[in-house]
Amino acid sequence: MFQKLNELNLKKLFLILSITILIFSCKQITYFDIPPITKEASGQNGMVVTAHPLASTIGNDILKQGGNAIDAAIAVHFALAVCYPIAGNIGGGGFMMIHSADGKTECLDYRETAPLKSTTDMYLNEDKTVKKNASTLGALSCGVPGSVDGMWQAHQKYGKLEWEKLLAPAIKLAEYGILLTSREVNALTNAQEELLEINGKSNPYYIENWKSSNTLTQSDLALTLKQISEKGRDGFYKGWVADSIVSTMHRHDGIISLQDLNDYRAKWRKPLIKRIGDYTIYCPPPPSSGGVALIQLLEILRQSNLDSLPYHSTAYIHLVAEAERRVYADRAEHLGDPDFYKIPIDSLIDSSYLASRMSNFNPLMATPSDSISSGVFEESDQTTHFNVIDAEGNAVSVTTTLNGAYGSKLVVRGAGFLLNNEMDDFSIKPGVPNLYGLVGSEANKIEPKKRMLSSMTPTIILKGNKCYALVGTPGGSTIITSVLQTILNLTQEGFTPQESVNSGRFHHQWRPDTIFFESGTFNEEVIDSLKKMGHGIAYYGAIGRVELIEIVDGLMYGAADPRGDDCAMGY
Ligand code: DON
Repeated sequence: MFQKLNELNLKKLFLILSITILIFSCKQITYFDIPPITKEASGQNGMVVTAHPLASTIGNDILKQGGNAIDAAIAVHFALAVCYPIAGNIGGGGFMMIHSADGKTECLDYRETAPLKSTTDMYLNEDKTVKKNASTLGALSCGVPGSVDGMWQAHQKYGKLEWEKLLAPAIKLAEYGILLTSREVNALTNAQEELLEINGKSNPYYIENWKSSNTLTQSDLALTLKQISEKGRDGFYKGWVADSIVSTMHRHDGIISLQDLNDYRAKWRKPLIKRIGDYTIYCPPPPSSGGVALIQLLEILRQSNLDSLPYHSTAYIHLVAEAERRVYADRAEHLGDPDFYKIPIDSLIDSSYLASRMSNFNPLMATPSDSISSGVFEESDQTTHFNVIDAEGNAVSVTTTLNGAYGSKLVVRGAGFLLNNEMDDFSIKPGVPNLYGLVGSEANKIEPKKRMLSSMTPTIILKGNKCYALVGTPGGSTIITSVLQTILNLTQEGFTPQESVNSGRFHHQWRPDTIFFESGTFNEEVIDSLKKMGHGIAYYGAIGRVELIEIVDGLMYGAADPRGDDCAMGY
């Protein structure tokens, strides 16, 4: 009998103890702290590299729960919308490259579209001058968001875990809040004035004086994510979230309608493919310019024997810059949404055409781009890239964006998320540069339902039939040239993944007629000799935030960019 009593007491004690621990641990979660930021990681079972340590942690957790790389990528995408609002989003769009373990490679284009009420001249005054800030700030700058439909379609086709499981971590982050890193505090502080001007004080990103000890809690966003979790794509494109987007539009003279939201669909596209030596490179087709431009650059540099030149010598930088000048001139003229404009892709990547492009290349002198005034090149790390690979060999490379930092700065009232300012990626007037100094023409003019031209270049590289590397970066117009340089570092220079990411970068985009260098990372004598050859020179704080995974003999090596809070995590 005594024994029975003891057993009962023990059971009670155990119950009381468990409840106390539960209550205590619930009380402890007042916000999510930032996990340690690791730049280099290796693993045999999975690897996730993202711009934020919380997102990398969440991606890893999903893999450990038995999710595949696509599941983890979806969870990371939603997590970034909460913990990295400068670029992570549900109000923007992007491109997802997927290589599945069965050997298929696809591109999911969830780029935003122009609203039905948009017109080619919508950002011009009557006298055809450009309306100040109209394509970059506030409701009129927003394209119809693609991210939620993109994640939904990726899950429908490839997902293994339940959809709700992939949203759960993001919902928690939004509900409990996150501790901000000092980089995010700076970014939010810089955006305060515009966020305040557009939304007033009742927006989650407003706080009198941001400090790094501040937490960011987003209760409205948590409600929106719950709705998406319960109802899938319809939780965003229909119902109260869609109504909130439309009423926010009305309040701010925007034009996105319920029909725009209902009609939005992400599209599966065939990737562009380039074989170079042992490698096969898969990259996104239009409406991203990234794939065409990357392939053009790789082929020109192969034909010109870049591999025979010393790394970052005058001759090396001159050749790459001259190739970039010609490729970006093609971008401005020929690229746009293929559903609206016939793009001569085969001709653009044809090797004899590319050889002819370099026929006027002078190894000793810069070839001047036509002189035309161009916009100021802005500091740009406001898109985000992430890579995921799982043990079965499914691999995902994603670049997603709101375009500028915090997009249009317009928060959807009651739904708590930022909308993009992607309309600025259209050519709003021929020859007029966008936020990234890029110019465009007829191919990329605004038309209802059309996708604006992008530079996003999430890339997958195979060696044989196995996934060898995943790479991508933010950086507006510099995305393509940063991806190019990282691929060259890895495959041609034989650098380690981390060296490939860390190495200094430079960039030319035809107009302005200038080579941009990351300051302090290049030899001054080399830069002087480039100046003497006739190159314009400018410096830039940091170019891109590259995330890279390399897989060698079944081991996965992750490398996160030291230029940000980026974090590689594997197991
Ligand atoms: O799609 C594009 O090319 C641009 N909207 C990307 C913007 C970007 O990368 C900004 N951040 N660095």
